[in-house]
Amino acid sequence: MKKSTKKLTAWLNEGELSNPPAAYRTAWAKAIREFKLKGRAGETTLVLDGPAPSLILGIKAEDQSRAVFEAAIRAIDVAKKHKFDEVELGGVPRAAMAAALRGLAAGQYRFKITAKASPEKAVRTSVIGIAPSLEKETSILADSIRFARDLVNMPPDQKHPALISKRVLDRLKKIPSVRIETWDEKRLKKERCNGILAVGIGSGHTPRIMILRYTPKNPKKEIALVGKGVTFDSGGLNVKTYEGMKTMKCDMAGSAAVIGAFESIARRKLGVKVTAYVGFTENMLGPFAFKPGNVVTMRSGKTVEILNTDAEGRIVLGDLLDLAEKSSADTIIDLATLTGACLVALGEETAGVFSTDDALAKKILDAGESVGESLWRLPLGRDYRDKIKAEIADIKNVGGRHGGSSTAAQFLAEFVGRKKWAHLDIAGPAYREGGSSGRPGGATGFGAATLVELITKL
Ligand code: BES
Ligand code: ZN
Ligand code: ZN
Repeated sequence: MKKSTKKLTAWLNEGELSNPPAAYRTAWAKAIREFKLKGRAGETTLVLDGPAPSLILGIKAEDQSRAVFEAAIRAIDVAKKHKFDEVELGGVPRAAMAAALRGLAAGQYRFKITAKASPEKAVRTSVIGIAPSLEKETSILADSIRFARDLVNMPPDQKHPALISKRVLDRLKKIPSVRIETWDEKRLKKERCNGILAVGIGSGHTPRIMILRYTPKNPKKEIALVGKGVTFDSGGLNVKTYEGMKTMKCDMAGSAAVIGAFESIARRKLGVKVTAYVGFTENMLGPFAFKPGNVVTMRSGKTVEILNTDAEGRIVLGDLLDLAEKSSADTIIDLATLTGACLVALGEETAGVFSTDDALAKKILDAGESVGESLWRLPLGRDYRDKIKAEIADIKNVGGRHGGSSTAAQFLAEFVGRKKWAHLDIAGPAYREGGSSGRPGGATGFGAATLVELITKL
């Protein structure tokens, strides 16, 4: 016999409800009057009158897609608390349909390693008025974001370079038009990837670079994506403190977002050729660990004086950017949890965008806005280049206390030539320490949606 399901109808409110179902009209008008609802983002009102309990969610904010994304998460939270089996989300503005669906998926996401299988039941979800094609595309993306979040949330010992590259290969190898190469230590030496090798040498687990190629039939454009994949950042000999180290399994979130975006693009068969370069390594302090004072000759030939082993991400990225620079792509975008300074500057919700190309920067900011990921542009240039000039090498890997995100980004710029390039420092929004109501702590998958949106628009 079919059990009756408990459905929660959730309606978005921008100060006015658009097309509310007739059955709820009176109950909702009364609730809006009684509770003086303004439709502001964050308002969450459970309405008990009407044919069944329902929910009114405020979404009025300067960043509408993000407000809708977060409202959808709240809807799932309420549904779980009150044991509903199904959530139907309505009143969604046209431009935020995808954000609504991603929010419903994000609201369900949990990461847990337990003895017993998770007893939590999935809530069924739907968005009223969403076009079937958009629903399909967005479900693919939501699935890739889940994978990216799992990779970041996984304990560091379960994802050292050999393990994570195997996991990524197993998941992506079956997608048509996708070719994957994994370079082990021997190959990395042959390819002169001395940057990632230097960072990895203090660990018992050797580094890997993965090159993921998606080649559609008649590609209209070609883009290279690059991701920092430090599977654990202890800081190396410049060892981190307890506070600094405890979340450092997240230091591969850039590569996870790139892999997630890559998977969605390939599964959706988009007409852009995409090559993803991700570098996996641990940053540890074993007996051979690289030392302050060392000079590394990077893959590009540039020499880098290492002054702080905790500024390792830029060294890994330097080699990856050199690979991308020498490829046939005309645009390179890298994602990295690169600097604590970016968190200081922009907080936990916003990523820094650095680019030598104004048009590309604008496209990225627009893509972020339309998917509801918060981005803010920060500067590059001569002032920062001066700060990383070294005495005994071409450049050094730290630039003093001030402007840390910009000196790190400028360091990366030294490995890019004429190609269009942008760097996203996602150190803030990639990972949440401790959750809040309805939103678990840990990985967010930040960046994947922006990349897919950007590449769709190219
Ligand atoms: N992985 C960190 C940056 C980071 C900090 C990411 C917090 C996520 C949250 C990076 O490798 C690092 O340690 N950077 C140093 C650079 C410094 C030594 C110049 C930093 O930000 O302190
Ligand atoms: Zn570090
Ligand atoms: Zn790091």
